[in-house]
Amino acid sequence: MPDSPEIKRYTVTSALPYANGPKHIGHLAGAYIPADVYVRFLRLLKKNVVFVCGSDEHGTAIPNQALKENTTAQQIIDKYHVLIRDCLYKLGISFDVYHRTSETLHHQTSQEFFLALFNKGLLTEETSEQYFDQEANAFLADRYIVGTCPRCGNPNAYGDQCERCGSTLSPRELINPRSTLSGSPPVLRPTKHWFLPLQDYEPWLREWILKSHADDWKTNVYGQCKSWIDAGLLPRAMTRDLDWGIKVPLPDAEGKVLYVWFDAPIGYISATRALFQELSDGKKKYSSPQSDFGKVKVDDWKKYWQDKDTKLVHFVGKDNIVFHCIIFPVMLHASQQFIVPDNVPANEFMNLEGDKMSTSRGWSIEMHEYIEDFPDKPDVLRYALLTNLPETKDSEFTWKDFQSKNNNELVAIFGNFVNRALVLTQNYFENKVPPRGVLTPVDEKVVKEVKEFPGRIAASIEAYRFREATALMIDLARTGNKYLAETEPWKLAKTDMIRVGTILNLALQISANLAVLTEPFLPFTSRKLKSMLALPDLGWNETGSVDLLPAGHALGHASLLFEKIEDSVIESQIKKLNIKKMEVERASQPPKAVKPLKPEVTIDDFSKLDIRIGKVIAAEKMEKSNKLLKLTINSGLDTRIILSGIAQHYTAEEMVGKQVTFIANLAPRKMMGVESQGMILSAEDGDGKLKLLQPLGDVEPGSAVN
Ligand code: 2FM
Ligand code: ZN
Repeated sequence: MPDSPEIKRYTVTSALPYANGPKHIGHLAGAYIPADVYVRFLRLLKKNVVFVCGSDEHGTAIPNQALKENTTAQQIIDKYHVLIRDCLYKLGISFDVYHRTSETLHHQTSQEFFLALFNKGLLTEETSEQYFDQEANAFLADRYIVGTCPRCGNPNAYGDQCERCGSTLSPRELINPRSTLSGSPPVLRPTKHWFLPLQDYEPWLREWILKSHADDWKTNVYGQCKSWIDAGLLPRAMTRDLDWGIKVPLPDAEGKVLYVWFDAPIGYISATRALFQELSDGKKKYSSPQSDFGKVKVDDWKKYWQDKDTKLVHFVGKDNIVFHCIIFPVMLHASQQFIVPDNVPANEFMNLEGDKMSTSRGWSIEMHEYIEDFPDKPDVLRYALLTNLPETKDSEFTWKDFQSKNNNELVAIFGNFVNRALVLTQNYFENKVPPRGVLTPVDEKVVKEVKEFPGRIAASIEAYRFREATALMIDLARTGNKYLAETEPWKLAKTDMIRVGTILNLALQISANLAVLTEPFLPFTSRKLKSMLALPDLGWNETGSVDLLPAGHALGHASLLFEKIEDSVIESQIKKLNIKKMEVERASQPPKAVKPLKPEVTIDDFSKLDIRIGKVIAAEKMEKSNKLLKLTINSGLDTRIILSGIAQHYTAEEMVGKQVTFIANLAPRKMMGVESQGMILSAEDGDGKLKLLQPLGDVEPGSAVN
């Protein structure tokens, strides 16, 4: 359903990513690409829309990462803010503003919000028992504590959330909790905090979500809200004992900061505030150079957050549903100043090659990794994700599917169609749009179809069904491709140029429609195609027509829209993924225990040992021993027998011809009836494996080791 004309403007938000590490393509599919499609579509409809985002720079996730990287929280946010922002822009996410929650403007906005609730008596003060780390002398909020998830058994669930099953948790729910600061089990200590009494808003939430949005919210979102409300809402602490975050603006709140989930969503408001501040003073820092709202006033942000005729839509992943549907709306509603979201079209998770996507486990494709490997293919990723969005249930990204979407759909259908239309026009009509003659039934049919596409695609986007919208978009190209295959203008060129002109005119009109209608989905391709057609910027409502290009219109320079991706490229990506996982696993293994140091020796003690290099000339396994090899050594001094306990690590055959390092003057010892005249030196790995010590390069038998 198109929006009612009463809606004057739109505020669209994408979840503020934590600036604590790179973000992967699953995040992109969850909250960024669908939002971008929606916003680009609204802009094409000439709607007044702000698209806001920025870095979430508070909460324990940030100092926790600083601990891991052995650096400061400030350095972490500075590094990842830039990395994430640049990746999102390179992938075409067209925010009007990408702000930071560490900015003063955001601190002020959040503190004002807190005080507005506090001064109205809407926050309750309570002293409760919280986990405390006695070694680190700190309370353990949210991600400073890990333990086993009570829902799925993940042994490394955080105090606020389990990343494996996506459940929202509180520290007291964790089984076997331990501190991430010292690793030790925590104790409970009383501390004072300010709570939002969610239970007081249950009647309002029931009315607003369960009644008013029963039909227009996605079932996954509605279902999660319903089970939260039905389970009974509890007061939720809006402050934390931490030294990283926004200070609680009260006199008796030393050492306390606002809860990250209190301040982060307010980040959407501060980002909008920053946008209008920058637009009004002309100094763009966080706002996009393309962002243009005409002449504005610094306070215009208020219209986007306070006017009832504004439609607010939050795009998030499934782990953020409760914050955007229950906690933040209660804050907005309680303030009596702000509008609440019209919709929260949250997505489920996207898996990767049969397993859950996770940066910490190394099983992920990070945005920056994709951009490094495919710098000229942002739209291929957008397309592969859009056709596979986890809209109703978890979905899966595979490199093979990515290749097939590119080769079989973008190249073979879209690219092929446009290329044929343009190249034939170049060849037969000097690169100018030919006039149309009389239309045949096959032409009439395609004209009718073209006319219907914009409305069909729009209906899918308006219902937040982006997968369906993307499929329809490529269907338009498929329609064009089929039309050329049926009419075969290349066969008519010798006999009926008027007919060829009609066919190519329609094929070019379809291409022009595609150039506009693909813009929300494939913005880079759309721009390229517009330039190839020398098409001016048109709005969504101008499409559906076959008169976008007048006869005689000179076209631009044609080039391929997409190129084939070879098997070798895909194979190397799969290999890279597996190597990354192995490396992350290896790096996360606890260090092997190292044997304690032996008592000190003097240089004289050491020089009593005569260590030499020898060569194994024969080897055999000792009967009745599974450890010993009997080695015959050319020691340079003599030929001698040495028994060595390496049979489980080297076979007799592979020892023959090897250089070995041995102690030449060790008193002979008899073992199993054979005298051993020395000892072969080897190193013992942490897992008990023996590796021979050898010189780097060949040396003569008998060479001394000093
Ligand atoms: O889950 C996350 O990555 C959060 N940083 C999302 C915050 S969304 C909003 F509230 F800012
Ligand atoms: Zn879990």
